[in-house]
Amino acid sequence: MSCLKCLPLVLVATISILMLSSASSSSLLKVGFYTYTCPHAEKIVADVVEEAIVANAGIAAGLIRMHFHDCFVRGCDASVLLDSLPGARAEKDSPANNPSLRGFEVIDEAKAKLESICPSTISCADILAFAARDASLIAGGINYAVPSGRRDGRISLIDDIPQNLPPPNFNADQLKENFARKGLTLDDMVTLSGAHSFGVSHCSSFADRLYRFNATHPQDPSLDPLFASFLKQRCPRTVGGASDPTVTMDLITPNRLDNAYYVNLEHRRGLFGSDQTLYDSELTRRMVVENTMRARVWRKKFGKAMVKMGAIEVLTGRQGEIRRKCNIVVN
Ligand code: HEM
Ligand SMILES: *[C@@H]1O[C@H](CO)[C@@H](O)[C@H](O)[C@H]1NC(C)=O
Repeated sequence: MSCLKCLPLVLVATISILMLSSASSSSLLKVGFYTYTCPHAEKIVADVVEEAIVANAGIAAGLIRMHFHDCFVRGCDASVLLDSLPGARAEKDSPANNPSLRGFEVIDEAKAKLESICPSTISCADILAFAARDASLIAGGINYAVPSGRRDGRISLIDDIPQNLPPPNFNADQLKENFARKGLTLDDMVTLSGAHSFGVSHCSSFADRLYRFNATHPQDPSLDPLFASFLKQRCPRTVGGASDPTVTMDLITPNRLDNAYYVNLEHRRGLFGSDQTLYDSELTRRMVVENTMRARVWRKKFGKAMVKMGAIEVLTGRQGEIRRKCNIVVN
């Protein structure tokens, strides 16, 4: 056969292969990755997570946020768990993570148990992904299968944080752009923001909305004035450092991962500008309203979006390593 005719075909085939292999290594993750190498791995993580949440309900929120902060910075490679080294400050020590990120000891405990039965087998990045799922199930009744096979990274830099993690004063357009850079859609962004229906925030994360909004408005006019007075009682004008109280993200069901978040937005009770903007912007308002009315659909979407987030820029195969302890690299 003359290959003048088959050339277009060869080209198409080559391009598809190239596209498939560069699509992302997420296709290399698979549900049940440890079925043969460590069959009880997911159950062991689930038991540790459950025990931790029974002891302190807020841990569920901490673990879900930790997975998000891991995945948005250098992909889901457990870089968020690495300790700073002399002369090299790690992600962990960024103001976005320290002191607010919580649940490290839960991951460490799960890792220690797993090392004792399956040494050097289960990555810290996978433990984090499993733990976030277990937390979603316990706190929100949201269950989903977690594709695994992530490997742990060796690099964690404090300077990676500002360009990757969105700050709480972003508007809908900025959030859209930030999530798009991670391969996530506007709907994924609105869906995942529902995680702000539980857990806590330090006053410093939103105090500007109460006292220093802009030159003409000391208080953010998009904030319900009654809710603002309540927050001002909890949060004095000067917060930060040693004196930085916390408030619950959701007043009514502070430990429940549910769609109440979206209802709060309709009442102008989003805690952050980045929350309220989802209702106030034309870009996303319809999605917020949908989520207020369709709890089951939102839960399903949340699970799917977590799986998508969990596949961001993952290391697989022979990339990276499997740590022995989640806070230090092997080599
Ligand atoms: C859309 C952009 C986002 C911004 C700007 C943002 C910002 C924040 C901030 C400032 C806090 C409070 C930290 C503190 O002061 O203690 C927080 C808490 C939290 N965030 Fe987000 N976040 C975003 C998206 C997400 C996503 C995608 C998830 C998970 C899927 C998530 C889960 C959480 C949880 C669960 C908490 C409470 C943590 C705890 O109680 O320990 N956030 N977020
Ligand atoms: C302050 O914020 C309000 C509400 O968003 C806006 O209308 C006003 O133009 C802003 N003023 C300045 C000086 O930026």
